[in-house]
Amino acid sequence: MLSGFLRNKISRHFTKQDEIIFNHNIPSYNSLAKNFSDINELGLYLHVPFCTNICPYCPYNKEIFREDVCRNYVHAVLKEIDYYIPVLKNKTVTSFYIGGGTPTTMLGKGIEIIINHIYKHFNMNCFVHMESHPNHLTFDNLGIIESIGVKYLSIGVEALQDRHLKTLERPYTVKDVKKIIERAVSRNFDCVNIDLIFDLPQQSESEIEQAGKDIVKLGVHQAATYPFFRFPYTRLGKELPKEGNVIGTMFRRRRLLQILEDIFYDSDYYRSSVWAFTKKGIDKYCSVTVPLYLGFGASGSSYLRDIFYVNTFNVSEYIKTLNEARSPVALSIELSEDMQMAGWLYWRIYETQFKKSDFQQRFNKAFNEIYGSYMKILSRLGYLRNGKDQIRLTDKGAYWIHAFEDYFSINYINKLWGTSRNNAWPEKVIF
Ligand SMILES: C[S@@+](CC[C@H](N)C(=O)[O-])C[C@H]1O[C@@H](n2cnc3c(N)ncnc32)[C@H](O)[C@@H]1O
Ligand code: SF4
Repeated sequence: MLSGFLRNKISRHFTKQDEIIFNHNIPSYNSLAKNFSDINELGLYLHVPFCTNICPYCPYNKEIFREDVCRNYVHAVLKEIDYYIPVLKNKTVTSFYIGGGTPTTMLGKGIEIIINHIYKHFNMNCFVHMESHPNHLTFDNLGIIESIGVKYLSIGVEALQDRHLKTLERPYTVKDVKKIIERAVSRNFDCVNIDLIFDLPQQSESEIEQAGKDIVKLGVHQAATYPFFRFPYTRLGKELPKEGNVIGTMFRRRRLLQILEDIFYDSDYYRSSVWAFTKKGIDKYCSVTVPLYLGFGASGSSYLRDIFYVNTFNVSEYIKTLNEARSPVALSIELSEDMQMAGWLYWRIYETQFKKSDFQQRFNKAFNEIYGSYMKILSRLGYLRNGKDQIRLTDKGAYWIHAFEDYFSINYINKLWGTSRNNAWPEKVIF
């Protein structure tokens, strides 16, 4: 109860809102066109809501792959893209991310058609970043992946000990997945990222150390190392015993992440986001952290300055609405300037460094006037270096400031995603 109270107090302080309310208000075409009128650059996201197996810890929007549903999904996504073609004319797309679910379930099943459509109609100034499942990365599929313009590939490896893969119910062994990683790294991708989950139930420090060393030995370009989140609406979130106290968990995770930091820094990797380490000289693989983006597909979300909206999570409803030439948007929220600024800061912190002048350019306000006093305190605590224009988080800051952010966002994600999964068209979600 105390933590809920604190969360609300701090959230109100930064957003200056008593309540944050998502409504079933569909932005009109004219209002979207107006939003786009002064946007020159943006990112695109495509959600693939299909998987071959459903993992018991995963919070994302997905269902078991079915050929007939996939075929209809492709048509629906093409219709959603068409809706945006007139407003996106002359805009530059600076990043394109395909996530899921498992995008590689759609290889040879229509993902090529969607990608071609996007490259044909939009001014694409970027290559594709795409998530993949290890079991789909056969020699032939890697060829298809390269041929559709993917230069940045992420593999959901999750763990490098068989006992942990078993807890997570992942359908491969460490021996298999190491061969798969080697196969992917030997191709011509600009960056191969692997996802590794740490702080798994009963995971020891030496297991984390071994996983970190194995990743380096395999020549992986980037490792995204996420702590294990127990989302209450997932099966493992419900079944596993409670985690103990929040502070103890935060300190344990800090220790484990420090082991990984030491291994990666010693092996010529740099920190490219709160959780990711990239080899020096390699362009990082990254998900959607661009300041403005448009999301296609079931549960795709879009952020266009003063509006954030989310499509329905329900795949059949998504297909149905687009077939009937209706909007798939389920929830939206208009964002005050304070909320936009708080959101901007949230994502820049995630990237661990940013420029105050970018804030000035975006909001026409001096960064120091709005957030200067917080930066001074955090700098004195050793959490960041507060330069004239550049803010750079220290390792300590990257972890603790983000742990603090997580404490808020997990609560929002649980409620927004949890509600949207159970109800295709929620009337409202109130925080
Ligand atoms: C969409 S999946 C990756 C691609 C593919 N579906 C797969 O599983 O191989 C995204 C990633 O989110 C991370 N993830 C999922 N559930 C998580 C959880 N409960 N805690 C921490 N990370 C999680 C995993 O590392 C996973 O690889
Ligand atoms: S972790 Fe990946 S494969 Fe497993 S259910 Fe989630 S999206 Fe699907």
